[in-house]
Parts: sequence; structure tokens; C-alpha cells
Amino acid sequence: METLLKEWYDKIKEAQSVENLEEIRICVFGKKGVLAAEFAKMKTAPNEEKSKIAQDLNTHKSSLMNELSARRITLQTIELQKSMKAEAIDVSMFSVGSEAGALHPVMETMDRIVEYFSAMNFAVKTGNMVEDDFNNFEALNLPKYHPARDMQDTFYFKDEMLLRTHTSPVQIRTMMSQKPPIRMIAPGAVFRRDYDITHTPMFHQVEGLLVDEEGKVSFANLKYIMEDFLKYMFGDVEVRFRPSFFPFTEPSSEVDISCVFCKGEGCRVCSKTGWIEILGCGIVDSNVFKAVKYENVSGYAFGLGVERMAMLIHHIGDLRSLFEGDIKLLEQFQ
Ligand code: DAH
Repeated sequence: METLLKEWYDKIKEAQSVENLEEIRICVFGKKGVLAAEFAKMKTAPNEEKSKIAQDLNTHKSSLMNELSARRITLQTIELQKSMKAEAIDVSMFSVGSEAGALHPVMETMDRIVEYFSAMNFAVKTGNMVEDDFNNFEALNLPKYHPARDMQDTFYFKDEMLLRTHTSPVQIRTMMSQKPPIRMIAPGAVFRRDYDITHTPMFHQVEGLLVDEEGKVSFANLKYIMEDFLKYMFGDVEVRFRPSFFPFTEPSSEVDISCVFCKGEGCRVCSKTGWIEILGCGIVDSNVFKAVKYENVSGYAFGLGVERMAMLIHHIGDLRSLFEGDIKLLEQFQ
């Protein structure tokens, strides 16, 4: 029995593959296997030796099993390593077909806006996308239950926290953290509970704020910079100021450019008016300065939608296509 079993211990140790080991397992432990045959032989052995033989056989049975599973683990590890080596991909290899990436039209437009205002010495601030009620509404002269809040419904968290509906709260954050004079822009994502051809729940705005001593900042200053900026973005367009209302500016104005599609003739995009609304602006409301405890100052502010500008620059019809991540579509705007 000892010599016979010794031979199987050796075979297990020398097994070269998991399949080979499986064949050995069947030969040893199978119904017609070596161990079964040895147990069968026991029947003919003298009675007094039977229990000793059974004990020996059981000891061998469990140590053969241990050997077998140890060898299986070794073989599996070797096989895994072999296949990993064979299937390895050289990620550092140069690929002839690789294409250069490009900026998304929204980011490209945002960069252009930032470029203009940086050159005009405006600092770039980012603010927080998760805002509190005070910065997003209250301090901007939008008290609770003010009807103008209806146009900016958003996603709310606990404790009066919310996803900011515009970049205007960055005006507040900046004024609360530094003294005048201020000259800043705030590009970034904003959120609203809207979804249709011209609205997505997330979009981008650029906010602007300039504050200086009382009497130093006039609507004429604002008008000049808005015109200059819009000509920088759209080339030779007409610019028109229309009286409007924003809670945080007084007086307020909406600014239109002559339609980039029909050059002011009147078409589907400009609803036959020849004009396209492009941004909101105005002279900072005194209630905003009160909220941030600024005294003896004057200032102007403006806010614009980046997607809207990108669509006009690239003649894109549906706002949602900017967020679908369709490379074929986006490639056209490179
Ligand atoms: N916050 C406004 C909006 O989201 C845009 C805006 C208008 C910002 C006029 C301003 C401003 O700073 O003066 O609709």
C-alpha cells in the first residue's frame, strides 16, 4: 500500500496542468480509483488488522487531498501568469490612428469669454455649486416668497442648501470676503429644474461684477464694456439695450445683438425680430450692497449664458445636442 500510494504522491507533485491534475484526482479518488480498490482489499484482510489498515488509508486519503489542492493552486497561479503575459497590452505603444482631442464648444466659448475679461483685468472666481439660500437669493434682493424666485426653481437639500440657480451668488461671496474695489467674473455650472429644447437642468453662466467708490461707476461704463465684449465675441454686430428687471440691479437692462443668422433681416431663430437676447446687466441695487455691508460704493453687474453664446457662434439648433456627448456632432465645431 505504501509504495503504491507513494507513486501517486509523486504524480500529484509532478502534474503539469490543471487538466492533468484532474485526471490524477479521478484515478485516486474516483469510484474505480486506487483508494476505492485499497478499501475493497480490506475486506479480505485478517480482522485484527482491519482497523489499522482503515486508519492508515484515511490518513493517506486526507493528505493526498491536501497535496492535490496545494498543487492545484500552484498550477492555477502559473496558468494565470502565463495567460496574463500572453494577453498583455502595451499601453505605451504608439498608435498611428490616434486622434487629437478638442475642447467642447461650451468650454471653448467660456475660455474666450474669460480671455476677454482677463485682459480687462477682471479676476476669475469660481464660488460654490452647492449654495445656501442667503447667497443665491436673499442677499441678491430676492427675499423668501418673492415671485422672481419662481423663474429659478432648483434642486434643494436640507438646511436651506440648494444647487445654485445662477452665478450671481459669487458676487456676494466675493464682496463678503474682500473690500472694494472689485473687478471679477465667475464662470461656472448652474442648475435649474427645466428641460426642453432651450433648457437643460445644468448649464453654464459667466457673471461679472465691478465695484468702486460712489459715483465712479456709471451705466455708460457698463454699456461700453458690454458692446466691446459682444463685438469681440460675434464680430460686427449691432448691440441694443432694452430696459428690463432683475432684483439685484436697478436700473436693469437686457442686451440684444442683431441676429447672427439673418443679419437683422428677421428669421426663425430671432422670431422675425432681427434681434437675439444675449445677456442681462445693470447697476448694482443698493439692497445688494446693504446685504454685504458695503457703503459709499457704486457698481455694475452682468450675467450671460455660455451655451446660448456657443449656439450662436456655431449655429447650433438644439441646446440639448451640446450635452449628448456625440463625438461626430461635436467634431463639426472644432
Ligand atoms: N442671474 C441672472 C440669471 O440667471 C443673470 C443676470 C442678470 C446676472 C443681470 C446679473 C445681472 O449680474 O446684472 O438670469
